[in-house]
Amino acid sequence: MRPKVISDSLKDVAEGEQCGAGKGWTMSLPRCPMVRLRVCRFTFRGLVFFTVAVALLYGFLLMDGARSAGKPPWLEINTCSPRNNVAFLKTHKCASSAIQNILFRYGDKHNLHFALPVTGNYFGGGRHIFEAGMVRFSPFNKVTPNIFAIHTKWNYEEVKKVMPEDTVYFTIVREPTALFQSLFDYASIGERAGGLTLDEYVRRNLIDASRTDGYVGYNQMTWDLGMPLEDMSNLTATRELVRRADAQFGLVLVAERMDESLVLLAKYLCWELRDVLVLRVNSLRDEFKSSISEESRQALQQRLAPDYLLYNHFLEKFDQQVEAFGRRRMAAEVARLRELMALLVSKCNFVRKEASGLTGRQKPRSYKVDGFVAARGGEACGLFTIANPIYLDLLKEKQRRELLNGTQQAPSR
Ligand SMILES: *[C@@H]1O[C@H](CO)[C@@H](O)[C@H](O)[C@H]1NC(C)=O
Ligand SMILES: *[C@@H]1O[C@H](CO)[C@@H](O)[C@H](O)[C@H]1NC(C)=O
Repeated sequence: MRPKVISDSLKDVAEGEQCGAGKGWTMSLPRCPMVRLRVCRFTFRGLVFFTVAVALLYGFLLMDGARSAGKPPWLEINTCSPRNNVAFLKTHKCASSAIQNILFRYGDKHNLHFALPVTGNYFGGGRHIFEAGMVRFSPFNKVTPNIFAIHTKWNYEEVKKVMPEDTVYFTIVREPTALFQSLFDYASIGERAGGLTLDEYVRRNLIDASRTDGYVGYNQMTWDLGMPLEDMSNLTATRELVRRADAQFGLVLVAERMDESLVLLAKYLCWELRDVLVLRVNSLRDEFKSSISEESRQALQQRLAPDYLLYNHFLEKFDQQVEAFGRRRMAAEVARLRELMALLVSKCNFVRKEASGLTGRQKPRSYKVDGFVAARGGEACGLFTIANPIYLDLLKEKQRRELLNGTQQAPSR
């Protein structure tokens, strides 16, 4: 047994090393305050000694890591370079617009190529499961895309066909009752069913209720992950779906744990924390939120059994990944993320506004959500406030221009 004091300082060193994974020490130092304090006191000789010690501990910890089952390779101490090839399943009402917004800005900034649908913001319009042809025959896609971040009914095998070999896959889940409540109001499910309140809707509609517009309804995550209509209430099929999804997605974020999710996402993609800063976009305004009785809530939980299977599985997995990342290290990274966000907010002076009070690029499609304007900071700040559907149109326009003038580049691999 190692004495506690030593094992603690081992951990700090290891955390410091992990902090700057792939960016080298110089760049990692400012990102790791705990280590910076230590290192600054060192002389050059001390630094050499320190480096050797770290290398030894490094090997030791890797052995240690190999023993801890279930730790994904991207959480190991290693070097990495930023991922440019990324596929994200955009689940409905799971804070996925915020993630999409992050991917749009990152891809735009680095001139990456997006998989873009012929029309609208959906591959397959919700009813149709994704097929490779939806990208291949899109006039916006003449070369292999780097980023897949558009709504679709997920079909891993087909997405794989259009994405580069080294693409990393991830998605996001949300507590199923909260998700359905939000979806119910956002997509006007009750109104469309003849003016039902949430309580009435839940009472009258069992698990196999028909889907609004053919795709919106109970167990939306199970649906989005590709479950065929006939198996929507089949828990055996759901377990199989969860097992497949578990193998397909290297990371599954959790909407209730957004800060930790963003930290893990940055780590997973080997991006900087500042790359995952985002405003709380497309979130339903309180005045549009239906109330629900305790009785209906319990009934709703039964209707959502498949989504609960899925959610509970990935919540547990998320917890394990946070554990593997290190609780203390996570707390420090979350604090740093919040600090960066606070700096951004003070630089840009974002103002949240009702959709009806907004025009142009900032106006969200739905009148039930807020948008943002940046009161200062120019274009750098303005990019954070462009509503996703409008950003999507801008990306289409950019790729169309690139096609016309022949500057569309083969994607970086
Ligand atoms: C439920 O799904 C399982 C696995 O896909 C399948 O074998 C079974 O036939 C399904 N049950 C029904 C009632 O459709
Ligand atoms: C081609 O289009 C891209 C994207 O709009 C633009 O950045 C680039 O300057 C254009 N090149 C030429 C030669 O027009």
